Amino acid sequence: MSEKKKIALIAGDGIGPEVTGEAVAALEALGDRFVFVRLTAGGAAIDATGCPLPPDTLAAAREAGAVLLGAVGGPRWDGLPGHSRPERALLELRSGLGVFANLRPACLMPQLVGSCPLREAVLKAGSPDGAARFDLLIVRELTGGLYFGEQGRRGDAAFDTESYSRREIERVLRAGYDAALRRRRKLCVVDKANVLETSRLWREVAGTVARAYPAVETSFMYVDNCAMQLIRAPAQFDVIVTSNLFGDILSDEASALTGSIGMLPSASLGACKDGRPVGLYEPIHGSAPDLAGTNRANPLGAILSAALMLRYSFGMETEAARLEAAVASALDAGLRTPDIASGVPAEKVVGTKEMGAAVRSFLPPPSPTASAGPPVA
Ligand code: IPM
Ligand code: MG
Repeated sequence: MSEKKKIALIAGDGIGPEVTGEAVAALEALGDRFVFVRLTAGGAAIDATGCPLPPDTLAAAREAGAVLLGAVGGPRWDGLPGHSRPERALLELRSGLGVFANLRPACLMPQLVGSCPLREAVLKAGSPDGAARFDLLIVRELTGGLYFGEQGRRGDAAFDTESYSRREIERVLRAGYDAALRRRRKLCVVDKANVLETSRLWREVAGTVARAYPAVETSFMYVDNCAMQLIRAPAQFDVIVTSNLFGDILSDEASALTGSIGMLPSASLGACKDGRPVGLYEPIHGSAPDLAGTNRANPLGAILSAALMLRYSFGMETEAARLEAAVASALDAGLRTPDIASGVPAEKVVGTKEMGAAVRSFLPPPSPTASAGPPVA
């Protein structure tokens, strides 16, 4: 009997508790195989302790097999200075866990073509099989760059700085190349090498790393062009590797093309612990304070993040695939949260809870042999 997997759960603020609630219920529906350690971070932690990421939270997150997070932030804390805002919790968690590679898959599911703002001809452009779809992966550097550079005020001026070392660039590029080997073997380094020195270093390092991956076709693109290419012909991309800030921006853009930002999961991975990468899993959307408590948030990004957690942190590929298939089945059945509803009669617009329940209804019952041993927490 295998030990139960220990998951640090940080529900966070706004819609965070609602969407992670559905992700937890989906995981539990896979069998009694997980122990959840509930931790506080973000605005909720500021209210409780005055600190966005209490030291106990980081310590317990490090202890767990993986961290599942909802979202942090909200207007209540907007007036706080930078270092004590809820978002700080996210940055400190990412850096404290050392999760430098943020995988953000953006895939247009066939059921949601009607919710994609692009015309069919645009979706077909550059598509390997001519079909109106795209399936790309943004690998965003997550623990360096502008988010972690020196910043401050000098008189009437303010500054933020970007700095990248060869080591930081190389390790995230390797994560991108490894992913490309499992996909369509195309990798595009996105930067602003016509202006930024850090980008020129990215290109230099990419030139070296690319030699270790001869099976992968490497290309380079400026970020402004990439922003345009994503809405001109998204199917041309397989894996995009880019810096922290560019990845933040491009992944929001790519998410809108999948129908809604509520659909997208993410996996943030670091170096291996016990043979598996340390992982932080979160939907890419924010805390959406306007939707909080209204049962209107889309829980699919959080549920799909849980699937990534099963795959990458726990090696539970079968269960990950089951969860993803259950999400596809709920969409096949016509269920839509308001953000992905396109208004056709075949759709049934449902709330967060109903969508979560629908996903669970499409999961096979857990097999008795799947039950795990005593809790580890
Ligand atoms: C994201 C978010 C965060 C980021 C914010 C909330 C700090 O936009 O995960 O993409 O910029 O990284
Ligand atoms: Mg973002």
